[in-house]
Amino acid sequence: MPVHRLTTILLCLLPVWRILTPVSSHPQHSRCQLIQRTAVCNNGKLSFVPAGLPDNLEELQLNDNHIQTLQDNSLLGYPSLNTLSVACSSLEKVESNTFQDSKLLENLNLAKNYLHIGYQDTSHALKSLPRLRALDLSENDLNDEMMATLLQNLTSLEYLNLSGNLLQRLDETSFRDLYQLKELDLQRNIMFEIDGAFDNNPKLQRLNLAFNYLLCLTDFHMTQLVVLNGSHNFIEWFISRQGLNDTFQLETLDLSHNKLLFFPFLPNHSHMRNLYLSHNSVSFYEHLEDNGTFPNTTSTVEFYNMKKYTGNVTAKLWDESLHGDISSLEILDLRGNQVQYFPQGFIQKMPALSRLQMCTNCLETLNLTSEQFSGSLYELDVSNNRLNQITADEGTLTALGNLTYLNLSLNDLQWLPSGLFSSLSSLRSVDLSYNNIDICLPEEAEINTDTSTACADWKNVASLRQLYLKGCNLKILPSYAFSGLSLTHLELSNNPGLNVQESVQSLSGTLQHLGLGNTHIQDMDFSRFQSLKSLNISRNSLSHLPPSLVNLDLKVLDLRDNKLSTIPSGQANALAQKLHTVFLTGNPFNCCQTEWFGTFETTKTINMVGQSYIECEDLIQTTHRVEHFQPFLCLKTGGKSIVWYILLFVPICLSFVGISIIVLLTFKPKMLQKSIKKNCLKPTTY
Ligand SMILES: *[C@@H]1O[C@H](CO)[C@@H](O)[C@H](O)[C@H]1NC(C)=O
Ligand SMILES: *[C@@H]1O[C@H](CO)[C@@H](O)[C@H](O)[C@H]1NC(C)=O
Ligand SMILES: *[C@@H]1O[C@H](CO)[C@@H](O)[C@H](O)[C@H]1NC(C)=O
Ligand SMILES: *[C@@H]1O[C@H](CO)[C@@H](O)[C@H](O)[C@H]1NC(C)=O
Ligand SMILES: *[C@@H]1O[C@H](CO)[C@@H](O)[C@H](O)[C@H]1NC(C)=O
Ligand SMILES: *[C@@H]1O[C@H](CO)[C@@H](O)[C@H](O)[C@H]1NC(C)=O
Ligand SMILES: *[C@@H]1O[C@H](CO)[C@@H](O)[C@H](O)[C@H]1NC(C)=O
Ligand SMILES: *[C@@H]1O[C@H](CO)[C@@H](O)[C@H](O)[C@H]1NC(C)=O
Ligand SMILES: *[C@@H]1O[C@H](CO)[C@@H](O)[C@H](O)[C@H]1NC(C)=O
Ligand SMILES: *[C@@H]1O[C@H](CO)[C@@H](O)[C@H](O)[C@H]1NC(C)=O
Ligand SMILES: *[C@@H]1O[C@H](CO)[C@@H](O)[C@H](O)[C@H]1NC(C)=O
Ligand SMILES: *[C@@H]1O[C@H](CO)[C@@H](O)[C@H](O)[C@H]1NC(C)=O
Repeated sequence: MPVHRLTTILLCLLPVWRILTPVSSHPQHSRCQLIQRTAVCNNGKLSFVPAGLPDNLEELQLNDNHIQTLQDNSLLGYPSLNTLSVACSSLEKVESNTFQDSKLLENLNLAKNYLHIGYQDTSHALKSLPRLRALDLSENDLNDEMMATLLQNLTSLEYLNLSGNLLQRLDETSFRDLYQLKELDLQRNIMFEIDGAFDNNPKLQRLNLAFNYLLCLTDFHMTQLVVLNGSHNFIEWFISRQGLNDTFQLETLDLSHNKLLFFPFLPNHSHMRNLYLSHNSVSFYEHLEDNGTFPNTTSTVEFYNMKKYTGNVTAKLWDESLHGDISSLEILDLRGNQVQYFPQGFIQKMPALSRLQMCTNCLETLNLTSEQFSGSLYELDVSNNRLNQITADEGTLTALGNLTYLNLSLNDLQWLPSGLFSSLSSLRSVDLSYNNIDICLPEEAEINTDTSTACADWKNVASLRQLYLKGCNLKILPSYAFSGLSLTHLELSNNPGLNVQESVQSLSGTLQHLGLGNTHIQDMDFSRFQSLKSLNISRNSLSHLPPSLVNLDLKVLDLRDNKLSTIPSGQANALAQKLHTVFLTGNPFNCCQTEWFGTFETTKTINMVGQSYIECEDLIQTTHRVEHFQPFLCLKTGGKSIVWYILLFVPICLSFVGISIIVLLTFKPKMLQKSIKKNCLKPTTY
């Protein structure tokens, strides 16, 4: 056949032709950058795959172009291609034979295109890739049917990204052929149902279902899965298949931002390490147990009608076996739930627990002794609960040798375990803000009972570095309050009327951050705080900057909401050289003394937070934005401002003229008449 012969000849000629034609005849080639066997042609306004690149090319990047169609022969010249990326390129279609010669292609990124238009051709093209391992089809407006078509026979696929499409429900046909699949990203679709979808994917290890519309995950039996992300759905129940003896490989389960009422019913055997349940409505119901107090009360929940799932689940509300195997748990995140207490033995079942995040729940008491926390506990956050007491005996505290971060803020704490600070040998950071705890005075030692104390005593706790005491209603700090400590971080803000002067001096060698916002401090001497990097003295009615600040090496300074009228240029210059961030809004600056603003504005290394909201008042008490104020309206000492002179002299001149007229009218009426007649009236004969 002559046609056939012609193609052969053409193919033979092609390499020669390629050598002979200069690059300029392929204008699109010049938009690519060659790095060894990779061609980067991103963002080059290309509408075709550039020809004329080396034929041993292994990676070709064509992102952010305008390639509507990948044409049949466009990749013929690059048979060694292993990775092709055509993301964000308005791609509508990959023609059926595009990959006929790309047998080595393993990674294909077609994210953020319009493949819903030409999905059928594209599907044919994908089937001719025997080695395809990773495929990114995210954000292509694909629906269930299009996805099923595209994924047919992709038996070698290991990584698949379908996020940001229009998938609604998955069933056993959805991923039927993907036997090798290891990782699947389905986040940000509109899925409300999953029904037996992963039974043919025995190697699937990572599954992301975040940001969908799922209502429950029941009959969970994917024993091989390592990471399951079901966050940001509407999940009310998580129930693993009952009675499975297999050990689940699950290590990370993220069910945060859902609608769980119960702690998830986890597998009986697993290696679960990270469990994220924040922002649900989880609570424990042990107290509802039918224990004789309320006979015949409902104490079981039954789950009926769960699709093909044979056997109804009947769960006793307090049945501890429902919590499943939590013995390997290291991180338990229960922030923002409804937990009032931990069921008996619950904490004890987690001997490896290192972070317990309980902020914003309804805990009323916490007895560290009876809960039996593990010695590996590193972070305990019970902030923003309803605790008025925490109890623990000394032995318990000593055993918590790894506890480093303790957040007790935003409770009603009045009692703490005695020796709380001195017994915890690794304690670095304690937040006691917004409680009713005082600092112990010497005579208060006797008030304490054996195990509880009404005041906090952290004398000589060598490990402590960060102490937060915001809003604790503190008035007096004993002069030795911080003696023996090496704090780097001390926060005393929102204690109006607090007298700090002496007590903090013992920290002058170590302190890097000091928070004294809203404490009503006046002239404090900071000159000894040579390590200080960050200082907050906002909301203190200060009328001038403490002069001792100028010699410090401050990076962050909060001066908001004071009574500053200016910052003398000497101070401004000194601060500008060191500061990185400064807060200045809410001060009644004088519009005619704003040289400091120019100094800060022109210093590139400094960030004036809320710069355009910094205001000043002019001579007649009108408020302006410093940024827009025209300084020529001010009288500068020694300078000459025309406006000022005009303003000053116009009234004087006017009154002088006025007086002259009155004088003239009174004493020389005839002269005036004459002049009027002379100048204003037409001359008459008389
Ligand atoms: C997909 O694979 C099946 C079985 O391996 C085969 O019968 C079918 O023809 C293939 N479909 C396509 C479109 O290649
Ligand atoms: C999937 O694609 C989305 C959007 O393109 C991206 O944000 C996400 O990181 C990808 N997922 C994986 C696992 O790479
Ligand atoms: C789950 O997915 C969401 C959304 O992509 C992400 O923010 C979160 O970090 C993921 N969780 C884990 C444990 O990786
Ligand atoms: C866990 O084991 C108990 C018996 O030990 C059994 O009743 C329960 O159904 C099992 N739960 C799961 C989720 O397998
Ligand atoms: C469950 O597994 C354990 C060992 O892993 C075995 O001793 C036990 O008999 C198994 N139980 C059932 C019901 O299969
Ligand atoms: C028995 O039920 C009452 C009422 O709900 C509850 O207050 C009490 O703690 C329960 N007792 C036990 C031992 O669980
Ligand atoms: C509670 O249940 C028992 C039988 O289970 C029944 O005899 C009794 O009358 C019930 N009590 C009430 C108050 O309903
Ligand atoms: C599940 O519960 C329903 C309603 O009580 C009942 O009709 C059905 O027989 C139960 N199914 C099984 C397998 O127990
Ligand atoms: C705390 O628990 C221990 C051990 O269970 C118990 O002896 C102690 O009385 C409890 N303390 C309080 C205040 O309930
Ligand atoms: C504290 O943590 C270290 C590792 O971070 C661990 O080796 C040690 O056993 C822990 N201490 C206790 C008492 O669990
Ligand atoms: C303690 O918890 C509160 C409220 O959850 C939070 O605002 C604060 O930043 C935490 N403190 C520390 C030191 O992390
Ligand atoms: C300084 O302290 C005030 C009062 O507590 C607070 O509102 C402000 O956010 C703090 N500034 C910075 C930069 O954290």
